[in-house]
Amino acid sequence: RESERASMLAVNEFALKHFEHNLYETSDGRSIGLSYFYERGLNDSVIKKFRLGYASEQSTTLYNEAVSKGYSEKYLIDTGLCIRTENGRVYDRFKGRVTFPVLSVSGKVVAFGGRALKKDIPAKYVNSPESLIYHKSNQLYGIYQAKPSIVKKDKCILVEGYMDVISMFQSGIENVVASSGTSLTEGQIRLIHRFTDNVTVIYDGDSAGIKASLRGIDMLLSEGLNIKVLLLPDGDDPDSFSRKHSSTELEEYIRTHETDFIQFKTDILLQGVANDPIARAKVINDIVRSISVIPEAVTRNIYIQECSRRLDINERVISLEVSKQISALA
Ligand code: UTP
Ligand code: MN
Ligand code: MN
Ligand code: MN
Ligand code: MN
Repeated sequence: RESERASMLAVNEFALKHFEHNLYETSDGRSIGLSYFYERGLNDSVIKKFRLGYASEQSTTLYNEAVSKGYSEKYLIDTGLCIRTENGRVYDRFKGRVTFPVLSVSGKVVAFGGRALKKDIPAKYVNSPESLIYHKSNQLYGIYQAKPSIVKKDKCILVEGYMDVISMFQSGIENVVASSGTSLTEGQIRLIHRFTDNVTVIYDGDSAGIKASLRGIDMLLSEGLNIKVLLLPDGDDPDSFSRKHSSTELEEYIRTHETDFIQFKTDILLQGVANDPIARAKVINDIVRSISVIPEAVTRNIYIQECSRRLDINERVISLEVSKQISALA
């Protein structure tokens, strides 16, 4: 299995170089792929830093190249770079797409994402399947590039997508990783925790993004992380937002708009129901449940005080509810 893993990583590495080469050295790569990235505002420096590429529209360009260089079909299929159809035909999964390699924390190419360039293609992104070398739930897009900055700033910014990571990085915010669409997992949270205790979640400013933030909050809290949340204006994601603002504005916006989870939950959940006592009680219970999952008593207490101030409820009442919830969970 070790040698199988090595063979799969090797063919992924080959594919990465092949896609990178296409982007800069072939005419389709330049006129279709590279110009797509330029249109989205990326510069050569981040394109190279994130090792972006282009997969040709022909069905078997990668397949033919790889096989002619001695890579075996088995590993092209095991990694998901190529797909075998029911009638035995083999074709390149990422054909006609720009490619985003997913690098592990140590810089190995464990997977790819490929973005469609045309609007009428059914899947906007396709991704490598789970495999011996790729367990999506233990990877974070951008971790390899972000690691030094996460350590230096002692903080990690969590976003949803590939382009969010790259745009923010280009705007000078380098401590950024993406959960890549799926809901955050424990493995991803532990990966962040290896480098810092502090996380700011900046998901898309739409209802899906808000739901995902609410879901992520309790998971991050139970891992003992300090968490802040930033809600973008409706319709923006970190990529579109960074493109509308200068680096300084972006940094300033994050600094002044990131809030603790209690404020975030209160703002979201109390919208329109602020004076309804039953609705308020539900919100308080929701926040109590979040506070209860925090492992450390001191931190819990700080949030109990914060909750008391913000919702104007006696601290001892909240404290009692938190204790009840903790015993219920135990
Ligand atoms: P979004 O739908 O927010 O896309 O999905 P995006 O990142 O803003 O993409 P652009 O800006 O249109 O290029 C967030 C992330 O969810 C995953 C990808 O990782 C994407 O970056 N996703 C999304 C998929 O894997 N497949 C999809 O079809 C859509
Ligand atoms: Mn810690
Ligand atoms: Mn989204
Ligand atoms: Mn988005
Ligand atoms: Mn986007």
